[in-house]
Amino acid sequence: MQRPVNGFSKLSKQQKIEWIAKECTQDPEKTKKLLEKYWNADTDLQKTHDEFIENTLSNFYLPYAVAPNFLINEQLLAIPMTIEESSVVAAASKAAKFWLTKGGFKTEVLGTEKIGQVHFMYHGQKNKLVKLIDALQPKFMADTAAITKNMNKRGGGISAINLIDKTDQLEGYYQLHCTFETLDAMGANFINSCLEQFATTLENAVAIHPEFANDKPEVVMSILSNYVPNCVVRASVSCPITNTKSENSVSRTFAEKMHQAVTIAKTEPFRAVTHNKGIMNGIDAVVLATGNDFRAIEAGVHAYAAKDGKYSSLTHCTIENNEFKFWIDVPLALGTVGGLTSLHPLVKLSLEILQQPSAKELMQIIAVAGLAQNFAALRSLVTTGIQKGHMKMHLLNILNTLGANDREKEQLVALFKEQTVSNAAVTEALENLRR
Ligand code: MEV
Repeated sequence: MQRPVNGFSKLSKQQKIEWIAKECTQDPEKTKKLLEKYWNADTDLQKTHDEFIENTLSNFYLPYAVAPNFLINEQLLAIPMTIEESSVVAAASKAAKFWLTKGGFKTEVLGTEKIGQVHFMYHGQKNKLVKLIDALQPKFMADTAAITKNMNKRGGGISAINLIDKTDQLEGYYQLHCTFETLDAMGANFINSCLEQFATTLENAVAIHPEFANDKPEVVMSILSNYVPNCVVRASVSCPITNTKSENSVSRTFAEKMHQAVTIAKTEPFRAVTHNKGIMNGIDAVVLATGNDFRAIEAGVHAYAAKDGKYSSLTHCTIENNEFKFWIDVPLALGTVGGLTSLHPLVKLSLEILQQPSAKELMQIIAVAGLAQNFAALRSLVTTGIQKGHMKMHLLNILNTLGANDREKEQLVALFKEQTVSNAAVTEALENLRR
């Protein structure tokens, strides 16, 4: 039975490992060895990783891969991806190859606006508050000058501070709804620092304002929003529809099936969630490999998918004048400076492989990864079904779980080129091989 522990964060790494191994695991020695096995041999590098978070015991590996052959606005790129799901990178590479002969991917940033809000309660007369917030506009800017100085110099900063009356939804609830341009930074720290200063400026102003002596606005909290419906990027592919199969076109049957698949995801939320999950396979993998915040991206993307009142597809498809067009509009608040970008060596490498993109360029690359992933999934779903490719990629995981050695793996991978992969079939084939 575990006992509560006091001051755990103050213990040394070794003491934490001793405690967790003894209190929470069956075989403490085995636990300690396992945790140590995953340490990096370079102690400085390990220290960098230890210091990312609190109570670090070891590292947790995920595969780091690349999907090559992405032609994006005439530039060829290999896209780094960090993901555990066996078929994702193969699917991305296949989609990249498919569109390579058809003009590649085209992209466009539709907006880069970030959002933050100061939430507060006020039960007095609205016109007094409107006048106060109007009068405070220059002070909000002046009080945040130290925070915004560098961002302003680079062409970013605070774009607007608007008072929003939410009292029809919650009694006394108002906001300062603020918009920002954070350039190559994701901007969370910049935005939150500005918002907390706006809150202080507001509180200081009402503290000395005689008109608010009896009904002061009370700040509840100040925080950025991960919902960024005006920080959106579009990625698209298109090609002619022809009767005969060719390198630079698709068949009408295929185009119509793809169109139907997208229309179903637009109509049916149960399907839309899985459809968009497939998109996030591509998006999250690149978001992780480039050291961005995948939880923020996930939350914002799914809110955007429900923006019209019903959860729906993030991708769209048209068939017009014998042209097949397939595209995604997706909100992505990303950074290529700050955060992990200068700390995690593999994140630095990812950015180098991507030719040191700006945040806007990274938005375009990541939208392409999402579109490619959706294209690959739908292509399988409307033709062979998903399991064939998925289980082929999963074969090595099954063989590793069964403890197959390298020679056995080689023989069984060759055998299953011609056969359907399933857990039972692979187990039987391995048993036969060992007989
Ligand atoms: C699996 O990770 C993703 C898919 O389910 C996506 C889809 O159904 O579109 C294959």
